[in-house]
Amino acid sequence: MTRKSDPNVNEPQHFRVSAEQPAAPAIALAARAIKAGGLVAFPTETVYGLGANARDEDAVDKIFRAKGRPATDPLIAHIADADQLNDLARDVPDLAHELARRFWPGALTLVLPKSAALPANLTAGLDTVAVRMPNHAVATALIEAAGVAIAAPSANRFSRPSPTTAQHVLDDLATEIDVLLDAGPTAIGLESTILDLTRDPPQLLRPGGLPLEALRQFIPDLRFAPRFLGDAEAAPAPGTLLKHYSPRAELLLFQGHDDAAVYATMRAQIAAGRRVGLMLNAADAAAFADLDVKVESLGDSAEQAALRLFAAMRALDGAGVDCILARSPEKRGLGLAVWDRLLRAAEGTLIEV
Ligand code: TXA
Ligand code: MG
Repeated sequence: MTRKSDPNVNEPQHFRVSAEQPAAPAIALAARAIKAGGLVAFPTETVYGLGANARDEDAVDKIFRAKGRPATDPLIAHIADADQLNDLARDVPDLAHELARRFWPGALTLVLPKSAALPANLTAGLDTVAVRMPNHAVATALIEAAGVAIAAPSANRFSRPSPTTAQHVLDDLATEIDVLLDAGPTAIGLESTILDLTRDPPQLLRPGGLPLEALRQFIPDLRFAPRFLGDAEAAPAPGTLLKHYSPRAELLLFQGHDDAAVYATMRAQIAAGRRVGLMLNAADAAAFADLDVKVESLGDSAEQAALRLFAAMRALDGAGVDCILARSPEKRGLGLAVWDRLLRAAEGTLIEV
């Protein structure tokens, strides 16, 4: 166990732990903080979470205050054993158990009718609860040692890109958390897929780390119903507002099949005299090698794009650009979730070329 920082009034206890076999003392200390009603930032396979005891109303309230998150946006309860599902949810359908057997631990969050005993702020007053079993040894060890389900949103300030490294957590929340478990960069890089099983047919509320195609094998009539700002309909997933997961810079999202036309339209933006940054896959980025602009490559696959997306947004913000140019990816596999996050960062506006 390495202790990376001195205990200061406003600094978290920061422990570097192995992602495969986290040291027991660090886990025990973090679990004590959870049981005492504190906040622990911890890694999952998707993004870092900001955790508190899901059954402690005051601790859950601290999460909302730390993030600056509206009380109308419910949290995900994280479990370490599928049996814990029955403590949190009631009338759990067979389909939920089937999906849990197939995809847990993993990047799938299930929305189910909530059990009566949960604090109201965890679910933002809804009669449903979101539950997930993360696939990360540190998360599992922490939940087991704490002996309770852990409520955890992504460990970023509200509307900022989700954190994929411990440094991102510190950048947003250093003064708010008691303990930070740092196991290096997360494996997937964007958040879990959220599936609402209280509706018939089930609805995909947020595309994420588990591809839609994998779910369709179990739920052929699955409805893709992400909610965007401006929808007249009442919101099933309050946290899926547009202008979310966003860099500070304006993000312009271009879509088109003709590479040359897309590049020309982007170049016109760069020529317009703004401080522009590019966030593109490797092949697209290569087309701008002659220009003196800041480039963050999203690699050459949907998996790499998922992994790099939020870090790239933060890096371009750090470089002080006013405007980020990005291109709409293929909406297949993890590409659907990447597209969703880009569209939200672009406040819902696609520039068709
Ligand atoms: O991968 C993830 O899901 C990460 C890691 C830490 O597990 N967590 C995460 O949490 O992304 P958060 O709070 O940033 O996003 C949770 C989303 C929000 O959009 C919220 O509105 C939605 O889940 N949600 C939670 N409870 C819900 C419910 N009962 N009904 C509908 N949506 C719900
Ligand atoms: Mg979030």
